[in-house]
Amino acid sequence: MTTIALSGSRSGIGAATAAALAALGHRIIGIDLRDADVCADLSSADGRAAAVQQVLSQCGGVLDGMVLCAGLGAHVEPASKIAEVNYFGAVTLLDGLLPALQRGHAPSAVVVSSVASSQLPWDKNPLGAALEAGDEAAVAAICAGAGPKAGHLAYAGSKNAVTVAVRRRAVAWGRAGVRLNTVAPGAVETPLLQAGLADPRYGQAIQNFVAPIARRAQPAEIASMIAYLMGPAAGFIHGAQFFVDGGIDAMARPTVF
Ligand SMILES: NC(=O)c1ccc[n+]([C@@H]2O[C@H](COP(=O)([O-])OP(=O)(O)OC[C@H]3O[C@@H](n4cnc5c(N)ncnc54)[C@H](O)[C@@H]3O)[C@@H](O)[C@H]2O)c1
Repeated sequence: MTTIALSGSRSGIGAATAAALAALGHRIIGIDLRDADVCADLSSADGRAAAVQQVLSQCGGVLDGMVLCAGLGAHVEPASKIAEVNYFGAVTLLDGLLPALQRGHAPSAVVVSSVASSQLPWDKNPLGAALEAGDEAAVAAICAGAGPKAGHLAYAGSKNAVTVAVRRRAVAWGRAGVRLNTVAPGAVETPLLQAGLADPRYGQAIQNFVAPIARRAQPAEIASMIAYLMGPAAGFIHGAQFFVDGGIDAMARPTVF
């Protein structure tokens, strides 16, 4: 049996992915705020450190896979918390658990980014340098000064930075024998999306965000891509981002890929 740590296991894409991987026979160590094997708050440095330690203790120091789904939408306040979970929550688990993955069998990891990662490119990402430097105070100050669009900035900025963080790790992780990729969903029917739709600041824009395939995804449609990337058929896929977005990225940026 292989062991996979999975954050955001209680809801939405994480819950669907945990179910898909468990159905394939994997043991899942779920990480979430509550109702999980590892209960931890990834918005704080202490919570992130506790999550790493508890996963290590539950897996005996050996992991075969990791899927990072935990995340907050643009509607959450303060906006700095969005960046804390979406960026620091992911990179702390990646870096803290790489040694355990190196000891695993055919190890692979997937981070759930977003189609929003390409809406705010790296050279225009006001949070990029502070996130990469691990400067949480600077991230909070930029978010606090961003006015009514702070939530969108924190969401798109943290998703852009987490995709960059994965790509920057491609050389070291490849040499370490651990595959690492991102999946970038478009709109998916989950509680996160519903909360965004209900938010007076962002609801209309999310409603207007219609993909060429004119519907939203079900969580299982993201989980199936993640399960594929975790498996042996994806053995040469590394350092890549896969849009599962009904064609939104191709519509918005046909010449950039
Ligand atoms: N739903 C969409 O339309 C959509 C689109 C693109 C990307 N995404 C990304 O997919 C991922 C999963 O989102 P979802 O739509 O399934 O949302 P969701 O709200 O259904 O699930 C998110 C999970 O993360 C957990 N979480 C949140 N804050 C946490 C914290 N501080 N510590 C530990 N766990 C925490 C929640 O408890 C929840 O179980 C997120 O990273 C999100 O940004 C979602």
